Amino acid sequence: MILKGKKGIIFGALNDKSIAWQVALKAHEQGAEFVLTNAPIAMRMGEINNLAANCGNAQVISCDVSKTEDMENLVEKSMEILGGQVDFVLHSVGMSLNIRKGRDYADVDYKFMHDTLDISSISFHRLMQTLWKKDAMKDWGSIVALTYIGAQRVFPDYHEMGDAKSLLESYARGFGYRFGKEKKVRVNTISQSPTKTTAGSGVKGFGDFFDYADALSPLGNASADACAEYCLSLFSDFTRMVTMQNLFHDGGFSNTGFSYDVFKLIENKNEGGAE
Ligand SMILES: NC(=O)c1ccc[n+]([C@@H]2O[C@H](COP(=O)([O-])OP(=O)(O)OC[C@H]3O[C@@H](n4cnc5c(N)ncnc54)[C@H](O)[C@@H]3O)[C@@H](O)[C@H]2O)c1
Repeated sequence: MILKGKKGIIFGALNDKSIAWQVALKAHEQGAEFVLTNAPIAMRMGEINNLAANCGNAQVISCDVSKTEDMENLVEKSMEILGGQVDFVLHSVGMSLNIRKGRDYADVDYKFMHDTLDISSISFHRLMQTLWKKDAMKDWGSIVALTYIGAQRVFPDYHEMGDAKSLLESYARGFGYRFGKEKKVRVNTISQSPTKTTAGSGVKGFGDFFDYADALSPLGNASADACAEYCLSLFSDFTRMVTMQNLFHDGGFSNTGFSYDVFKLIENKNEGGAE
């Protein structure tokens, strides 16, 4: 059990497709104790309570990540419940209002864009600032956030989320330095393959893009399950010197320029279209 005795906070388990859902199940299997959290609206859907029941009756605390008072309450209550500082935190949160509302990248609503950045990126800074001020991280602890290669390259339909993820990854470096110097705590982002979740499927053309990424990656797309295992390795003591990194968990997609499987995929689509 690689997380035996470790305590943590897991954000973002909405339903059993969520990456955070798989992280929670596996962290429980590996001996961790943790608090689950999500936005009030997601809590009302109630599915998170089923997850909590399967994770040793984990406590569930509501937190809208765009509200500092919610974040402070979450961190304080988690420390009470878990009996002190925590070893690991997973930030698995993302949302774009312009994508949701069908606004083009060249026609964004800036209020929506502020909300997107607040929820998807600044929330990570807010989380780390709260953990820092409340001295909530144990020495040699680990903080992980999920991101996407749209932070480095343009995927037109990924839209403002590409900008949001760039900022998120930058915060991992900025706070990673401070947490490393003061507390030996590491901060990393995992850049995950396209994954069939509620957030992922909300991006236009997701199905075609999922197939393309799968065909380009020598190992194929990484599943939510595999991503959860990678998160656990970063929470464990086996990765204590890894920090301030953006780590690709994408079956090799990020370093591949061409594959015959992509060629075949395009050929098949063209043949299908001609019928
Ligand atoms: N699915 C993909 O293709 C993919 C690929 C790479 C990275 N990611 C990232 O993985 C993370 C998890 O997403 P997922 O794919 O598991 O989808 P998901 O929809 O299951 O999870 C997104 C979560 O964000 C939460 N959230 C949204 N607004 C919030 C708020 N104001 N306060 C608190 N929580 C809020 C949702 O309730 C949900 O639980 C996100 O950061 C996403 O960008 C996803």
